[in-house]
Amino acid sequence: MAYLKQQRPEKVTVPSLRASKERGERLVCLTAYDYPTARIIDEAGTDIILVGDSLGNVVLGYENTIPVTLDEMVSATRAVRRGVARALLVADMPYGSYHTGADDAVRAALRLIKEGGAEAVKLEGGRHRLETIRRLIAEEIPVMGHIGLTPQSVNKLGGFRLQGKTAEAARVLIEDARALEAAGVFALVLELVPREVARIITETVSIPTIGIGAGADCDIQVLVIHDLIGLSFTENRKPRFVRQYANVRQIITEAVERFAADVRTGAYPTEDESYGLSPEAALELESLLSEEKIEER
Ligand code: KIV
Repeated sequence: MAYLKQQRPEKVTVPSLRASKERGERLVCLTAYDYPTARIIDEAGTDIILVGDSLGNVVLGYENTIPVTLDEMVSATRAVRRGVARALLVADMPYGSYHTGADDAVRAALRLIKEGGAEAVKLEGGRHRLETIRRLIAEEIPVMGHIGLTPQSVNKLGGFRLQGKTAEAARVLIEDARALEAAGVFALVLELVPREVARIITETVSIPTIGIGAGADCDIQVLVIHDLIGLSFTENRKPRFVRQYANVRQIITEAVERFAADVRTGAYPTEDESYGLSPEAALELESLLSEEKIEER
């Protein structure tokens, strides 16, 4: 952990991301939704920390990201902010917070920046979001784009499927990427698209691409932290791009089972794990209690 901190000491910023792309550096992005996780992954050298609206399905137990509210995103972003020193902190704009016009989008983004402490926001969609994106950028709000599978469109798409599979669909994605770059997004998430399409986009645009299920050629890779550490409840539908590096769910289960067994057998807590009175206080208490008993009689 300390090794990574020494290797990557400088604060990651919006401009430094483009410089990293020019130098051909591969960067790391992870989601976080709370203070301890944010602190751990920041200290471990993560370059971008995204308070994703995956908060909804990963942490809050919703079916998908649709119900996530702006208040929930602001609250999670504030917690994550307190744990992040080096990474660039980006917050997702939840469904509904930028769909009713550019003014509403600016108001929502300003809450994530001013109250939440995010340094940038992310929103989903291609060419139909250009006006909103331009307006946010005009108000000094850095914007990260997100195309391919856009989970907030789940009701329209009818599920979470690979996007850009046909030549025509791939062309639309490539055009969207160019349009978003021209509108001023500083980085672009490519979710669940064929690796060839991600490679063409990465080579075509000068902003960094951030891949999730988009192959190895993206400039940056992102995963949901709960998938990486085995804390997601998606066993039966784990996408093929998820590589699980730890089984924290099992570690928690075992710890809780051992604690419960110790409580039930009386092995927890020991004397060392509790507090005692000083001998003087114990004596005084004893005499006080015996005086009370005498008075009662
Ligand atoms: O909400 C999220 O976690 C995301 C990433 C997976 C890119 O949008």
